[in-house]
Order: sequence, then C-alpha cells, then structure tokens
Amino acid sequence: QQHLLGIAPLNPAEITAILDRAEQFVDQSRSGSKHSEQLTGLTQINMFFENSTRTQASFEIAGKRLGADVMNMAMQASSIKKGETLIDTALTLNAMHPDLLVVRHPNSGAVNLLSQKVNCAVLNAGDGRHEHPTQALLDALTIRRRKGRLRRLTIAICGDIAHSRVARSNIILLGKMENRVRLVGPRTLMPPGIEKFGVEVTDDMAAGLADADVVMMLRLQRERMDGGFIPSEREYFHRFGLNAEKLGHAKPDAIVMHPGPMNRGVEIDGEIADDINRSVIQEQVEMGVAVRMAAMDLLVEARRNAM
Ligand code: CP
Repeated sequence: QQHLLGIAPLNPAEITAILDRAEQFVDQSRSGSKHSEQLTGLTQINMFFENSTRTQASFEIAGKRLGADVMNMAMQASSIKKGETLIDTALTLNAMHPDLLVVRHPNSGAVNLLSQKVNCAVLNAGDGRHEHPTQALLDALTIRRRKGRLRRLTIAICGDIAHSRVARSNIILLGKMENRVRLVGPRTLMPPGIEKFGVEVTDDMAAGLADADVVMMLRLQRERMDGGFIPSEREYFHRFGLNAEKLGHAKPDAIVMHPGPMNRGVEIDGEIADDINRSVIQEQVEMGVAVRMAAMDLLVEARRNAM
C-alpha cells in the first residue's frame, strides 16, 4: 500500500502485518527502549482540521520515536482561514517534500482526494463519518492481546453508529477477520442498510450484549447531527449507557472499550470506565502509539521497496 486511507482497501494479511509490527513496538517501548531510526531524515506533517487529543498526540510521538522530523500544522492559524483550499494547502506543503502527511478532516473523502495530489504517503487520521483506520487497528491490537485472538469473537459496538467513523472502520476490520459484530443503539442512530456489512442490529442492550467477548462504547457525535433526533443525556444513559447491570449480560471476562473522548454518565458509567478488571481504555491509548509507528514504518518501507 502507498497510503493508509481506510481499512476497506486492506486484506487480512496486511492487517495482521501491521498488528505484528505494532507488537514489536509495544515490546520495545515497554522494555524502555523507545527510540529507533526507521524514519530518520524524513519529514512528517500532521494536518488536523478537526480537534484531537489522542490521535494527534500519538502520531506526533510515533513519528518522533521513529526519528522523523515532525511538524504539527496549526490549522486554525493557517491560510485556510484566508480562503485557501484544502488542495492548494496540500500542494503548498507537497512542494516542501514531506515524506508523510497525517490528515484529519471533517469531510468524508477529503483525505482520499488529498492523497491524489501529493507525492508522499498519506495517513487518514479520521475523515468525516467515513473511516478512522488507525483507531480500528489499535482496537484490533488491544482485542488480540487481551483475547489471544482476533477471530470468532462476539463484539458489541454500542451507541451512535450512524455518525461514527470509528464504528465504520471497526465493522469493516472485524468483519474481514471473521468476527460476529452486533450493533446496538437507537434505530435513529443506525445507518440505513448497515446490515449489508454482515452485522446484527438491535436497539436492546440486553440482547446486544448477550455473551459478548468485547463491548465497545461510542459517544454521541453531536457535532455531526444536523438537526435530526438528539436524545436527552438522561434518557440515553438509562436505555443505552453501559453500567454494571447491562455489562452483566456480556461474558464474565468481557472487556470494555471506548475510543475516546468519553462522556461519563452519558454512554458509560464512570465506575465501569475506571474498572481495571474490565476496562482497557488506557491500553487502547498505549496501542495507538505502537500502531501508528507500525503504519508509518510499513508505508515508508513499501515506498522504498517500490523505488
Ligand atoms: N479516538 C480519537 O480519535 O480521539 P481524538 O479525537 O482525541 O483523536
């Protein structure tokens, strides 16, 4: 692959290769040897047109740990504010010969479009409702480490599926790896026709979580809800918020995941989020650095081999 634009273009072997490479970086980091040289002399530019804590910080740390020169474009202070288009901005940066562009954008498809205009590797850090591939990969790594495998698991993805690029990338990845995926949430927050992805759909938390190995909670993406139905937080927590009673329907050793940012008391009870016996939310963040290191390392390697 020349870019990482989504999970859809990857096959199971390519997904496994990224996870295997990421495992090496987890081991390396945990043994105290955080830095290596794979990206020494290369330039990585991070362009985030939407807010981010986890993705932007971990891409920056990942690049620095691999030896890259990393620049974070302050998009709020850029000439985008003076009317310059995304493509002209990309062409301008391309003329400075970056090797890696990491892009988050509110419009689905914007990162793909940009990748066609530049000469370097482009990594999608989340585009609209479309895809968030490195999030799905870090989720997959977390699941594989905790469950010892990434196939034939029952995984409940709960909440606002319609507006979630995290859900979409996870549905594609987990399906490719032969897992049983259940989507649980209000009918109004389910994308029409989602069943064609081979998932089961329910608005009943007890049925959706029954015997699940993994429970993945998502926040209400209010910034993407354009005037449609928005449930009250109280009502939403009562029906769809994860608490001990609802988690009791899952397997006794089920893990609880959340990509963040998390709204405690809306989609998840704070006590569940902090329960070190069930919640792997902080481990997901740790895996994020390793997965982003692996993705950039493999893209650079593929481009060198293609030369
Ligand atoms: N999970 C995720 O994308 O978080 P950020 O928006 O903080 O990057």
